[in-house]
Amino acid sequence: MKAVRIHEYGGPEVLQYEDVEEPEPTTGEVRLDVRAAGVNPVDWMTRKGMVEQRELPWTVGWDAAGVVTETGPEVSELAVGDEVYGLVGFPDGGGTYAEAMVAPEVELMRKPAPLSFEEAAGVPMTALTAWQALDALELEANERVLVHAAAGGVGHFAVQFAKHRGLHVIGTASGSNEDYLRELGVDEFVNYRERRFEEVLDPVDGVIDGVGGETFDRSLEVLKPGGIIDKLPSPPTDEQQELANQHGVEAIMTNVRWNREWFAEITELLEDDTVSVTLDTVLPLSQARKAHRLSEEKHARGKIILKPGDGEAASN
Ligand SMILES: NC(=O)c1ccc[n+]([C@@H]2O[C@H](COP(=O)([O-])OP(=O)(O)OC[C@H]3O[C@@H](n4cnc5c(N)ncnc54)[C@H](OP(=O)(O)O)[C@@H]3O)[C@@H](O)[C@H]2O)c1
Repeated sequence: MKAVRIHEYGGPEVLQYEDVEEPEPTTGEVRLDVRAAGVNPVDWMTRKGMVEQRELPWTVGWDAAGVVTETGPEVSELAVGDEVYGLVGFPDGGGTYAEAMVAPEVELMRKPAPLSFEEAAGVPMTALTAWQALDALELEANERVLVHAAAGGVGHFAVQFAKHRGLHVIGTASGSNEDYLRELGVDEFVNYRERRFEEVLDPVDGVIDGVGGETFDRSLEVLKPGGIIDKLPSPPTDEQQELANQHGVEAIMTNVRWNREWFAEITELLEDDTVSVTLDTVLPLSQARKAHRLSEEKHARGKIILKPGDGEAASN
């Protein structure tokens, strides 16, 4: 079977589409035919060696949707033929960029019926991040939340979850995403390329910052004292913590993790179409390099997805 692995850290060229051994499920695990894998910024950050080092070769990816083809001992909930999705082995394991993989059954949930495998693979990491970040902001209905990178993987879920929780949602993105985001539910939109959000917005009660850097610093100017800003790309620096203290706000960085209870709630919202997933691009698994280049440009609307296929030759 084919998988996309790295044998060294580096640019997209280190992604190797290659033959690997078929995985065998052990206790509590199932074998999954991966029908689609989601691409996340942490995939290429890991590929570059920017985050935790891992044992090489390493099969990339944590988001998967697929079909159970075998169950190991002591698997009680899932059966062969079940269509499932999940965030598998984050942050230590991974391995979703593959035609098949093994996963603990507790890290999988039945795929919402209305969603394709490609759509389902776009959900776990980003939806859980958005859910967790919103929880961390501790907002009440009608309070104002500012979502940076609102059209991205995390942002488009954050906007929808925030609306569902009755919040007043403000999203930043470039102008080409305005109609899209208004349809998704933002109450206010700021084109970050044309306007400085801190100059045009009334104060907000919380910020989900999917951009970081100076966007974080400027966000402090519109955050009400006592408010919380969740900086997702990396922990606030010492200087940024100091700046946050001066503004009387709290700066945090949540780290996404698998949580069955949250994921069950997210699954329900997808089942009944309260929330939807946007796909930017679907590529064959053999084009993982192209998928990473796209993701690294940081302008995807929604998700980039890889689809294991019919053994296409790897392309650069
Ligand atoms: N802490 C955690 O556990 C955790 C978990 C997941 C992700 N993250 C991090 O969160 C960030 C977002 O992740 P993601 O998956 O949503 O990324 P993504 O899908 O790649 O984000 C792409 C989006 O970013 C927008 N964007 C780029 N520059 C912007 C700016 N200056 N202002 C506003 N929007 C801008 C783009 O909109 P335009 O095309 O309109 O510019 C695009 O829609 C990443 O840094 C990721 O590493 C952290």
